[in-house]
Amino acid sequence: MSEVTNHEYDVVVIGAGGAGLRAAIEATREGASVAVVCKSMLGKAHTVMAEGGAAAALGNKDPRDSWETHFRDTMKGGKYLNDWRMAEIHAKESPDRIRELEQWGAIFDRTPDGLTNQRNFGGHTYPRLAHIGDATGLEMIRTLQERGIHSGMEVFMEYTVRQIFITNGKASGCFAYNRADGTLHVFKAKTIILATGGITRCWAVCSGSWEYTGEGHALAYWAGAEMGDMEFVQFHPTGMIWPPSVKGILVTEGVRGEGGMLSNSEGKRFMFNYIPEMYKPEFADTEEEAREWVNEVIDGKLATKRRPPELLTRDVVAKAINSERDAGRASEHGGAYLDISWRDEEQVKKKLPGMYHQFMELAGVDITKEPMEVGPTAHYVMGGVKVEPETQESTVPRLYAAGEAATGLHGANRLGGNSLSDLVCFGKRAGEFAAKVALQMDDWEEIDQTEIDQVVSETLAPLERENGENPAKIVADLREMMQNKVGIIRSKTLLEEALSDLDEISSRGKLSSPGGGKIYNPGWHQALEINAMVDISRMCTIAALAREESRGGHTREDFPAPDYSHWGKVNSVIWMDEDGSMKLDHRSYPPMSMELRGLLDESDLHQEDE
Ligand code: FUM
Repeated sequence: MSEVTNHEYDVVVIGAGGAGLRAAIEATREGASVAVVCKSMLGKAHTVMAEGGAAAALGNKDPRDSWETHFRDTMKGGKYLNDWRMAEIHAKESPDRIRELEQWGAIFDRTPDGLTNQRNFGGHTYPRLAHIGDATGLEMIRTLQERGIHSGMEVFMEYTVRQIFITNGKASGCFAYNRADGTLHVFKAKTIILATGGITRCWAVCSGSWEYTGEGHALAYWAGAEMGDMEFVQFHPTGMIWPPSVKGILVTEGVRGEGGMLSNSEGKRFMFNYIPEMYKPEFADTEEEAREWVNEVIDGKLATKRRPPELLTRDVVAKAINSERDAGRASEHGGAYLDISWRDEEQVKKKLPGMYHQFMELAGVDITKEPMEVGPTAHYVMGGVKVEPETQESTVPRLYAAGEAATGLHGANRLGGNSLSDLVCFGKRAGEFAAKVALQMDDWEEIDQTEIDQVVSETLAPLERENGENPAKIVADLREMMQNKVGIIRSKTLLEEALSDLDEISSRGKLSSPGGGKIYNPGWHQALEINAMVDISRMCTIAALAREESRGGHTREDFPAPDYSHWGKVNSVIWMDEDGSMKLDHRSYPPMSMELRGLLDESDLHQEDE
């Protein structure tokens, strides 16, 4: 029998990105003993890849901003499929969460008056993103990590969690293995918080870091939790596309926020041709007006003109770049040109230092003198674990989720910058409520030994298999397949093909053999990841197949328009049935109060009522 080490904590937080660390800080503040179990090294979370800023209606750069406008922008950007209760909490609480980070030592950029500076981003009416150059996520993680360590949380680095245990219908602990030395561990927990981030490594071209293989989403699903909105995957419009070795790496939306302009192979600013009806009153439709807005902003004035169309929401910009390519007007390597070189060289280097170095070192492009080449990259999943908005508890009692692992706030499309503020708002709430519940319990629930034995044997199984395929090849095939068949533009035929491809990939995964032993064996880790990647990809595919319309991060070639009468009112819900099969249904959130409804754009709501 393999040796298993046992641990006991009031609260176990899985994941050490922004949501996980913020949750751990809050849970320790409540008096709980807290373990943070994370797949990579502390400080190396995907959150550090979030560059441009955290959205919060501080009103420092433009006093006209308010939580009400932030709420309205978030709902509009999400195409009204958001859980409005989360959107309200997020809009109201984000400013306090940002100020708190500042008190804890985060060094945000400043306005000339010494206030936290804020920049423009797509879909936000006012400059709203608190930022640190173009390394906002990195500074947030540095701050939270320092605070967390001093709060007393214990960190288990390089551990992959493979199962959440359920006792009497409630979460009672989890099983993990140490990726470095292969040791096996059971964590008894009174409550568990999933803060595992996203799933974008399921696509070949993505901005996600290597951790993003979707185990968190899969753990919740396997534990019996309901998952929501899995068809909505955000393709960030601007990833690097050249050279091939760096394809997908994020080019922050901050470039467009600082005045970056998109053009096609004919040198035309094509975004003027793609302004959706619902955004026409807010966006400039002439180059002259767009430039006037930029000039006002650079001069530090309150903008009076309509915003440039490069600042439309990500779903719109990504699809526009795709359409230009399909029309034969792509940049040299199949994307679009993004130009910030018209701005003063020192300003570019000051505001976008990461982008300057990224292009100089990886592509040999000096962005202060020449345009970048960019194209869409899988960046974020709006879908995830369905949670109760106030507490973040999932449909499995004592299992919580926060950040990208959870769903609701962003609806069909997330606004840039709303992720970093989501992490700290809902991470805090998850930590607080999970700790409160844990501290009311006298003892830990027992975990069934047969379940432990079972997961131990499943974890070690790939090491015992011989002559199977290399798991890396299977993972690469899955990612390529998802890119081609469940990408930006989908169709019934492609989605049905994807489902049968996933069956085949799943069978291949079960026979794969990584070779080697338990110490530092990446092949073993990949062999174990396949199951989660297949189930997550299947969730995205069946939800996308069912939604016969186009909305936000879900576009169907065969149903190109939004459907306001039915699909615009319902969210998808996925769960695992008792026989192990994947089930799908559709449901609506409770109706919004008239007061909140009054904050939304009347004309959009008429369409919703049709
Ligand atoms: O473009 C960016 O800097 C990404 C930010 C985000 O996804 O929120």
